[in-house]
Formats: sequence, C-alpha cells, structure tokens
Amino acid sequence: MKKLIINGGKELTGTIKIGGAKNSVVALLPAAILSDGKCKIYNVPNISDVHKLNEMLRLLGSNVEYKNDEILIDNKNVKNREITKEYASTIRASYYFMGALLSKYHKAKISYPGGCVIGSRPIDLHISAFEKMGAKVSIKDTTYTLTAEKLHGADIYLDFASVGATINIMLAAVLADGTTHIWNAAKEPEIVNVASFLNSMGAKISGVGTSAITIEGVKKLNDGIVEVIPDRIETGTYLMIGILLGKNLVIDGIIKEHLEAVITKLRETGAEFFIKNSKIYVSKTKKLNGVNVKTLVYPGFPTDLGQPMSTLLTQCKGESLFEETIYENRMRHIKHLNSMGAKILQFEKKAIIKGKTDLAGRNVIATDLRAGAAMMVAGMIAKGTTTITNIEHILRGYENIVDKLSNVGADIKIVDE
Ligand code: UD1
Repeated sequence: MKKLIINGGKELTGTIKIGGAKNSVVALLPAAILSDGKCKIYNVPNISDVHKLNEMLRLLGSNVEYKNDEILIDNKNVKNREITKEYASTIRASYYFMGALLSKYHKAKISYPGGCVIGSRPIDLHISAFEKMGAKVSIKDTTYTLTAEKLHGADIYLDFASVGATINIMLAAVLADGTTHIWNAAKEPEIVNVASFLNSMGAKISGVGTSAITIEGVKKLNDGIVEVIPDRIETGTYLMIGILLGKNLVIDGIIKEHLEAVITKLRETGAEFFIKNSKIYVSKTKKLNGVNVKTLVYPGFPTDLGQPMSTLLTQCKGESLFEETIYENRMRHIKHLNSMGAKILQFEKKAIIKGKTDLAGRNVIATDLRAGAAMMVAGMIAKGTTTITNIEHILRGYENIVDKLSNVGADIKIVDE
C-alpha cells in the first residue's frame, strides 16, 4: 500500500509544468478506436488511468506505442471484443467504449465502469440516448450488452448537462446514419478537445463548447491527431498551493480561459497572482478573506476543484460557505480536515468553513481523487507531518505529483508498505 508523506510549511519556488487533462485523455483514448487508421495523441499525462485505457485498447487489438508524452495507436488489427469486469471496473471512463464500439460495430459488451465513490453515478442518460439512436440495451449481472441493427441520428435532450453523456453520444453519433442533435449538452473544454480529435478523423461535429451540438454521421473515420489540452484541475490545484506557499512560483502551460470561474473566485479571496500568456506567477498572499463557493457545470466553478478549494478556505479569515451541487458525496474529506484543526460545520452538501485555522499534520485518508488533492494541499500547509493513505486515487489524476512538487521545494514523498 502506498502512502504520501508530507512535511508541511515549505516555501515553493521554481516552475511547475502542467500536464495534459485527465478528463480529455480518458475520452480521447476510447475515441481512437473509431479510426480505421492510425492516431497520434500528444501531451499525454502520465497517470494510471492512461495505462489502464491503453490495456483496454490492446485488448481490442490496437497497437499502442506510448513514449514520453505521445501515444501512437494503429488499429489495423482491431476487433470488437468484450471489455470484461477486470478492465472496465478499474476506471470510470471505460464507459466511453460503449459509444465508440456501438458506433463502429453496432455492438458493445462491457462491464459496469468503476471510478471514485462520490455518490451514485448513474449512466441512464447515456443509455437512453443510445436507445433513441436505435440501440437495444440489456444488463446481466454487471455487464451491459448494446446492439443496434442500424444506428441512426436522433434529437437528444439531456436532463442534466453531463460531460460523460455528451461525449458518449458524440462517439456513438459520428458513424450513425443521419444527424444527431444534443440539446443541453455539457460545455466543458474537454468536450471540445474530443470533438476536434474526431473531426481530424473526418467526423462532422459542430457546436461544441455550446449547449447545442450537431453531429452529422459519416461512413468511415481515418487517421486522427490531437494534442491534449492542459489540465485545468491540476492548474487550479497548484495555483491554490502557490497562493498558500509560493515564492515566485510559476505555473506553466495553462489556458486562462478554461479557468475563469476559479481565477475570479480566488481573486475574490484577495489572492494575488499574475497571468501572462500561458503562465501564472504566484507568491503567498498573507491575508485571505472568506468567500462563498458553489460548484456548477462549466463555465461554473468546477466540482473537481471544490474539495481543494475547501482546504484553501480554512486559511481565509471569516466565514465561507462551500456548496457542492453536482455530486451527493463530495464532503468525505471534511472530517479529515477537521482532524487537522479546521473548523468546518457540514450539513449534507453544504459546509460552513470558519477561518483562519492553523492546521497540524495527521494521518488522513484520500477518500477519492479530489478529496486526496484537498488533503495534499492541507498537508503542504500544515505544521508537522501528514501521512495520506489510499493515494492510488491521487495518482489516477495528478501526474508525477511528487517530482513536480519536490522540484519546487516541497518535502513530499511516496512510501510503499
Ligand atoms: C466527469 C468527469 C469528472 C467531473 C464531472 C463533472 C470524467 C472521466 N470525469 O464525470 O471528473 O467531476 O464530469 O464535471 O470526465 N448523471 C446522471 N445520469 C447520467 C450521467 C450523469 O444522473 O447518465 C449525473 C451524475 O450522477 C452526477 C452528474 O450527473 O451527479 C455529473 O455527471 P457527469 O457530468 O456525467 O460526470 P462524469 O462524466 O461522470
């Protein structure tokens, strides 16, 4: 079992380079299976989800070469095969193979996806959209079988602007007969990234980045190429760490427009940082003030940064209200923050955070990926040693985290027990 050990309070100086976005690459890899030729994916982050998806591509017969931060995929020998529980249950994004295989082969057999336990995470919107496009879906034990004699375009309205459903519908629709419209589509930048990859293969997708997406089905998809966008959640996490501990810290390789809500909220606390082109320059802000933060779909404040933000709010003077609106269960880190000295009163999906409180190192648990990030930020600012267990979660989403942070002066290491 791996543990993260942090000796807190160290000043951070130097440059942190941002990697490719987890939530993009986990959709780009399954999307690659749609190509009848070869695909190149640049700026791939070195996270465990990527390794797991590569295994699923290899299971389907793709030749996958992963060197440095590039992946080359050759689909010459690809066949439709079942993605069994041992593969699918390891990560959430395995569900993108449903849309992709249904599109290409009119049949997909795949076990239920895994992922962080942050509340019930149904995929009913994905399934009902596939059914509207002509698929029949059956579930036996934990395995979904999707078949379609003919997959056709459809008008699909999403009751919730789900990232996963929007991408999965695009994957299914690119090779369907006719035109598909997605209304109330999710607008996250990762969706735009996936659409540009599919369009590079010859797909006809327009409207991405808005709530109305149109996909005109084509007969075949060819070679594809894409660069993974920078990870806005990794950027936001390091920016928060910089506000708390930076001394001329530079966060390099960002897209500011993807982070407007986060930047604006952080500035509202009084945090000072400077952005020029693709770099953020940040030093510790001594006095921060409490603010209210409510997570929302893009372009709102991202749910994936809500938990690290709650740690930052413990260092803000006064009362802050932190509210999670996307998931049921994103407050499991609160009791661990309180054990370190925070004063947080939680009621269901809302938390009142009273600051500023000094934090002390403790033994805590990464209950999910972003809760792990919240504990990591807490450990970095706490006095003494913090030990975080269950860090497999953190490693799924933050590439080379120990190297990136120790290179700028953090005292952080992973021990294997
Ligand atoms: C993706 C991200 C995740 C992020 C989330 C919201 C990936 C792999 N993960 O997750 O990091 O936190 O977007 O930005 O990209 N829902 C339904 N039925 C469905 C689908 C979703 O009820 O069929 C609900 C979910 O239970 C949840 C909400 O919609 O409450 C958000 O889900 P969704 O946007 O689909 O998130 P994911 O794609 O799972």
